[in-house]
Amino acid sequence: MQQLIDKIKQLKAETGALILAHNYQSVEIQDLADFRGDSLQLAILAQQTEAELIVFCGVRFMAETAAILNPAATVLLPASEAGCPMADMIDASQLAAFKQNYPGSPVVCYVNSSVEVKAASDICCTSANAVKVMQSLPSDKPILFVPDRNLGTWAAKQANREVITWDGFCPVHQWGFTEQHVLDIRSKYPDFKLLAHPECDPAIIKHADFVISTGGMMKWVEKEDKAIIATERGLTDYLCHIYPQKQIIPLSPLAVCKNMKKTTLEHLYLALLHKQHKTVVDPIIAEKARLSISRMLELS
Ligand code: 13P
Ligand code: SF4
Repeated sequence: MQQLIDKIKQLKAETGALILAHNYQSVEIQDLADFRGDSLQLAILAQQTEAELIVFCGVRFMAETAAILNPAATVLLPASEAGCPMADMIDASQLAAFKQNYPGSPVVCYVNSSVEVKAASDICCTSANAVKVMQSLPSDKPILFVPDRNLGTWAAKQANREVITWDGFCPVHQWGFTEQHVLDIRSKYPDFKLLAHPECDPAIIKHADFVISTGGMMKWVEKEDKAIIATERGLTDYLCHIYPQKQIIPLSPLAVCKNMKKTTLEHLYLALLHKQHKTVVDPIIAEKARLSISRMLELS
């Protein structure tokens, strides 16, 4: 493993690549990254970098967002088959039919969506800014929110807006945690705060002390010594790795995103070596998708 890590570091230096890793990536991948972050933080870094080569350790919609925001850079997705099942829960034709039922309603799409869905939406959002995005829209018509019903429902309450959500969800957050997990862990660690990702089911969210993005969770733990965390396991693994003295407890260690874990050191090495798995986005669709992503970034 050390040999592979050394080779990756050497190739990174030779190519001048910027390695970005989402907070759910494995510890060894996050350790090799220039920056770790949530979807919003990584999108901003991808847009602002001068690097000509970005290696995006995450899932497809993240690499596509980076490629849309920085068309001058080459964006590699080391595990080319790493998708997001929630993003696949709505396509452009389903969105068109949804819009037809609510003429004049603005459409907010979660960044966990295809380029086509982004192109047909008015504005994009991430878990870090969904409330702000909803509040930026006029309140005379209900907002259509795709694809995540849990994020859409939670953010609508915070923003005090009428929102009609698509029936999509993240399998990891939807099925990874039960209310019984919360009750059991609360009785074991009664003075710990529960941080939950807004992709969790409302039955979990209602028990949370804070509902925040993965970037928000990282910042929270910088300042505090103990927490129970309801999100994908990679985040707690990395927190335990960098803060071995803190008590960071996953609500369930079984909440693992198979897609996020597809990126291995071998994938990263081969991507850098062969500059393989370039993210290609149709330029006409990309132009439209850029509008909805840029509107979000203007608010952030
Ligand atoms: P964050 O933007 O909070 O990192 O969430 C991304 C994601 O895919 C959560 O499942
Ligand atoms: Fe998609 Fe869920 Fe995996 Fe995030 S954790 S990438 S929403 S499947």
